[in-house]
Amino acid sequence: MKNTTIAAILLLPVIWSISSCTNNSAQEITEKIVDEKLNTDDKALSLLKTNCFTCHNPNLETENRVAPPLFKIREHYLDDKTTEEEFVKNMVHFINNPSEENSIMPGAVRNFGIMPKMSFKDDDLKLMASYLFNNDVSTDEWYAKWEKFEKEQADKPQEINYEDLGRNIANETKANLGKKLMAAVKEKGAAGAIEFCNTQAIPITDSMSVVLNANVKRVSDKPRNPNNQANADELAYIEGWKKAKQKGEKFEAKVFESNSKMIGYYPIETNDMCMKCHGTPEKQITSETLSKIKKLYPTDKAFGYSENEIRGIFVVEMNKK
Ligand code: HEC
Ligand code: HEC
Repeated sequence: MKNTTIAAILLLPVIWSISSCTNNSAQEITEKIVDEKLNTDDKALSLLKTNCFTCHNPNLETENRVAPPLFKIREHYLDDKTTEEEFVKNMVHFINNPSEENSIMPGAVRNFGIMPKMSFKDDDLKLMASYLFNNDVSTDEWYAKWEKFEKEQADKPQEINYEDLGRNIANETKANLGKKLMAAVKEKGAAGAIEFCNTQAIPITDSMSVVLNANVKRVSDKPRNPNNQANADELAYIEGWKKAKQKGEKFEAKVFESNSKMIGYYPIETNDMCMKCHGTPEKQITSETLSKIKKLYPTDKAFGYSENEIRGIFVVEMNKK
């Protein structure tokens, strides 16, 4: 949401009451503004839940951790003098381009590997970051709020924005794949993790489809697995992304209706972590990894990438509700 939109929403009850000359009391108006503020918090929490908590699990158990909890990150990004503006700017900068260079948590990078790059709307990112600035997510009070939120969400029907829904589904699938992939690379090294991708990538995207009640697949113009070849329409979208990138423009997701379904395309970009398996053969991909790839994927085209390139897209097929 743009700042102006937030401002507009916050002001709406005020303008309303003035223009319609109702006799709303000041207290009612304040309550409405407080309500809107709560809705913004709820929106931020629901974004954090679908996009970040899969890896940055708010529960404190240490087993199976694939990323530091957000309160630790908050501590690193915050000191007495940090303003909200600086905090948001620094965090958004990292998330838009996770790299060792941009990281201020070298220990976390060592323990968990660099965070995978995902695509978010800038406004959503700002909302999440400013929520993290304003809420100490380590307190009992916050945990109580979080539990309440989760319960409420479970039985609340929501208005559907298919572009956002599809983005959440794509990001959640990516988070889930990324989490398991990072764990496999950590445990077995890149060569060992090839088998994981070979046997698990499609089942994981499929099972996410069931969980999220949508069809999710990953396709590419240069697929490793020939089953992931992009069709003509998907290829056109990928080409469009490449052209926009060359011109330094931001490329948006695409959502359209087809056969009474809503289809969304969301780009998948490369980062440092992908190079071990999709980078330059012999340089970034070791010969051990390479020979595993060649054996399982004799027609492999998915190498020779550098960072921040389009590796493929998520295609999310949603039922129209
Ligand atoms: C697929 C797993 C995954 C998801 C999903 C994820 N992260 Fe991360 N994130 C990591 C890992 C791993 C690290 C630790 C390594 C690092 O710092 O890059 C990390 C580190 C960070 C850092 C610290 C960066 C630094 O300075 O090193 C920030 C900030 C962050 N994440 C924010 C977020 C936010 C906000 C979201 C949701 C919008 C999110 N992450 C989603 C895996 C993930
Ligand atoms: C451990 C090796 C490994 C790493 C690391 C890795 N991949 Fe892959 N990737 C594979 C394998 C193997 C496949 C084929 C999976 C299959 O059979 O469906 C694949 C397939 C894909 C596909 C589906 C299209 C295709 O080519 O078949 C995409 C998209 C993709 N990877 C993106 C990424 C991105 C983005 C990263 C970094 C965040 C990454 N991968 C990191 C091994 C890896």
